[in-house]
Amino acid sequence: MAKKRLLIIGQDKDTLSGIQSVFPVKEWQLLSTENFLSAREVVKDGAEPQVIIAKLEDSEEVFLDYLKELHADIPFVEWIIVTATQEKEYSTEIEEVAFDFVNQPLDLKRIQKLVKRALRASLLRQRLNSYSEADSSRYSIKAFLGKSEPVKKVKGLLEQLKSVPLTSMVITGETGTGKGLAAGIVHYSGQRKNGPFIELNCAALPRELLESQLFGHEAGAFTGAKSRHKGLFEQADGGTLFLDEIGDMDLELQSKLLKAIEEQKIRRLGSEKEINIDVQIIAATGLDLQQAVIQGDFRDDLYHRLSVFHVELPALRERKEDLLDLVPHFIAEYNSKAKKNVNYISDETWELLLEYDWPGNVRELRNVLERCVLLSQSDVLPVEWLQLKQEMAANIDREKSAFDEDALIIPLDGSLALDDMEKIIIEAALDRTQFNVAEAARLLKTTRQTLRYRIKKFHITS
Ligand SMILES: Nc1ncnc2c1ncn2[C@@H]1O[C@H](COP(=O)(O)OP(=O)(O)OP(=O)(O)O)[C@@H](O)[C@H]1O
Ligand SMILES: [Mg+2]
Repeated sequence: MAKKRLLIIGQDKDTLSGIQSVFPVKEWQLLSTENFLSAREVVKDGAEPQVIIAKLEDSEEVFLDYLKELHADIPFVEWIIVTATQEKEYSTEIEEVAFDFVNQPLDLKRIQKLVKRALRASLLRQRLNSYSEADSSRYSIKAFLGKSEPVKKVKGLLEQLKSVPLTSMVITGETGTGKGLAAGIVHYSGQRKNGPFIELNCAALPRELLESQLFGHEAGAFTGAKSRHKGLFEQADGGTLFLDEIGDMDLELQSKLLKAIEEQKIRRLGSEKEINIDVQIIAATGLDLQQAVIQGDFRDDLYHRLSVFHVELPALRERKEDLLDLVPHFIAEYNSKAKKNVNYISDETWELLLEYDWPGNVRELRNVLERCVLLSQSDVLPVEWLQLKQEMAANIDREKSAFDEDALIIPLDGSLALDDMEKIIIEAALDRTQFNVAEAARLLKTTRQTLRYRIKKFHITS
């Protein structure tokens, strides 16, 4: 097993040998230097300590400068800082970097425990980072597949955003067009890639919960708030907060969000204290926000704030040539996951793939190909498992039977406005499907999201 590595900076001889005595050399590689200058040399020579015990000498400022310089080369190290005095107040900066403080004379038992805990913290940080390195290749601009003109435009924009320090942006597009993927790319290819990437689906939570999730709360802020809770704004500090389905956010909360973006400050629920944050907001939605603004469902100031940087993802049916990139990619992915070897697609299959309109966009394509690869029994992509034609045909059949048997009559005598007609059509579809939104959306050849949006807009209830 590799030895654990501890570096001790600036201790007198006795203290040093005291510390050394509690870390057996069988397990530990112990390094010591007189000062930061020589510590730098040691690190430059390739030593990578996981924990450093350093004495706070000179002024705090000078100490911090030294510390940062060293830290840049060994980012996963944890610092235990030895101070001469007891219980002094330190600057926030030093508080933030220190794993913990100890005073002289040293309590060796405590040092031993602290170093072990610091070591675990360092290892964890290193491991998490290697995960996020994997994430960062999953979320590189290259991972956004497609060579069509609309995709080139999107990728060009993502490329530009890499170097722009943005506080907020919006990604729009139908379901399955890659909004989540694009958000990941913006974070992991941008300047905040080493900060956290935190995701929240605004449609998934009721308003109050959404608010306390975002802003956090103090103990007793509302019934059930037993302890204080750091909100996602705080958790995303230094990184990105990805707010999915922003179109579903309540108007009042929208205005709090706008304020937080503009001032980069928030207040936990139940607290007066303002907390500074440094967070980039990426919002995404499948709704037409401009339309929602007109309808009064989305604040126009927030819309303008977000849409300074707007990435609009094209539907797959508008760029079917991208299938040539996407299809082989997903087949390769599922080949390797399922240990299959599909490597041939017949002309007939290609025709079906290219004819189909892909209402569920890239996600639907992925799912279809997953099914085909998993069920393949040779190296040919099995056309019988595509089931696209059937899906199309089934849609048409269902539509026909529902509307033929029981047609919908709408007077065109000027008594109804277009909006009223739309409402009547939606109500009829919902009625015929026992308020099954998915089914009704299929009848109306629209997406569930759009239908839900309209249901809200027209205040239709079951
Ligand atoms: N251009 C692309 N290249 C490669 N993979 C893509 C592309 N677009 C989408 N995908 C993949 O398709 C799937 C769906 O994409 P994603 O979840 O980002 O869509 P979405 O727009 O967020 O959908 P929803 O609105 O339903 O949340 C994901 O697995 C994603 O990685
Ligand atoms: Mg998504």
